[in-house]
Amino acid sequence: MSKAASNTSTSKVSTSKATDGFDLTRVGPGTVMGEMMRQYWIPAAASSELKPDGDPMRLMLLGEALIAFRDSSGRVGVLDHRCPHRCASLFLGRNEHDGIRCVYHGWKFDVDGKCLEMPNVPPPQDFKEKVRAKSYRVREQAGLIWVYMGSRAEAPPLPMHEALFVPEQDLTVTLLQREANWLQGLEGDIDTSHFGFLHAGHINADDFEEGHPARHTVANRAPEYKVGDTEWGTMYGAYRPEAGGKMHWRMAHFSLPFWTQTPNADFADHVVAKAWVPMDDEHTMLISIYGGRAKGATYSSSKLKSGGGIPGADKLDYLPNTTDWFGRWRSVQNIRNDWEIDRAAQRENRIYSGIRNIVIQDQAVTESMGPIYDRTNERLGSSDAMVIRTRKRLIDAAKALRDTGKVPPGVDDPSVYAVRSGGAILPRDADWIEATRELRRAGVTHPGLSRDVLGGMPAV
Ligand code: FES
Ligand SMILES: [Fe+2]
Repeated sequence: MSKAASNTSTSKVSTSKATDGFDLTRVGPGTVMGEMMRQYWIPAAASSELKPDGDPMRLMLLGEALIAFRDSSGRVGVLDHRCPHRCASLFLGRNEHDGIRCVYHGWKFDVDGKCLEMPNVPPPQDFKEKVRAKSYRVREQAGLIWVYMGSRAEAPPLPMHEALFVPEQDLTVTLLQREANWLQGLEGDIDTSHFGFLHAGHINADDFEEGHPARHTVANRAPEYKVGDTEWGTMYGAYRPEAGGKMHWRMAHFSLPFWTQTPNADFADHVVAKAWVPMDDEHTMLISIYGGRAKGATYSSSKLKSGGGIPGADKLDYLPNTTDWFGRWRSVQNIRNDWEIDRAAQRENRIYSGIRNIVIQDQAVTESMGPIYDRTNERLGSSDAMVIRTRKRLIDAAKALRDTGKVPPGVDDPSVYAVRSGGAILPRDADWIEATRELRRAGVTHPGLSRDVLGGMPAV
């Protein structure tokens, strides 16, 4: 091949990488990824953020500036923030008597966007039945407000993540805003080899009791991987040889369009679902739903053999929420104060990163990349196999929708999400998929749940 020809092919590769990088990360209306996300129900806020007749709340979702409010009857409305009359923001509106009233000329809208009153117009000239505020359909489940931003006449079903079926009193739901692109955050969750450095570089295997789920990840910080496509998205297994002819496996999932299930507990009763919800291209709301054992036995809350907690697993401190578009669920440790990195703790290896909270350690590294990093600058290795596979799964599904109208996985068939992540010790020559089929099936051991509720786990 001539030099010129080989140059051409190199530049073609990098152009398509750049284009895919752009398409993967942008979520506004009309973008490839944004249109795919609009096929799904999106968790957007905690139900507790809205009180009946309370203050309207600015809600940025997929790059759209919206207003959320709870009416006198308890119903939630999510509307374009611009009043359809002359575009004053409904953030200023009066939430009263089952509707929100624009303070400019008094037009009033219900949760479905229907114009109820047009009081600045003499009754004969009233045309309220012809006016609608742009509104999105809303549901509430698992303590969260869900929004459907797609165009179907009938919205699809909610995704059947096991965590959404756990009674609310048995759930822990947290929200945390990240100042970076959604995919940057998500990729951190499916990149298991960072764990032994970023979160546990200062911990040795002998610091843990025998059987602690994180013991394997620090005993061998360079696991091997297998990855695969699944009906819900992608799955990886990170494996490390164990004594006695055994193999330790940690298996985790990506589910379309923005969900992860991390593997940091055994499968039994490990109920977790995490959503990396794009507020816009440069801000993400991480919504974590923990039930079952995951609720009380996370790495952050576990103990070392010495009886002490994990150094660097301090509690997360939030700033007070404000009414700004990006004022909700922000951490005290943030990009403006270098996440309060403690250089002495880092230097003395009391905390490997010097950052005192596990989630903020993830937040720091992914925000430090810049709001949307240029993926043409990467040098990926074998430890990035899951990241590579997941990007391909996402872009293929989004382009199939754009080019052929193919509905992406999980929209019409929400039972594909009924899977678990976790760790297991298997015979060394076992087939990792076959040997864990039952373990990975959701709803087996959690009280009140059954396979009948969740549907069977499809074959992978
Ligand atoms: S701009 Fe809202 S009523 Fe006029
Ligand atoms: Fe992490």
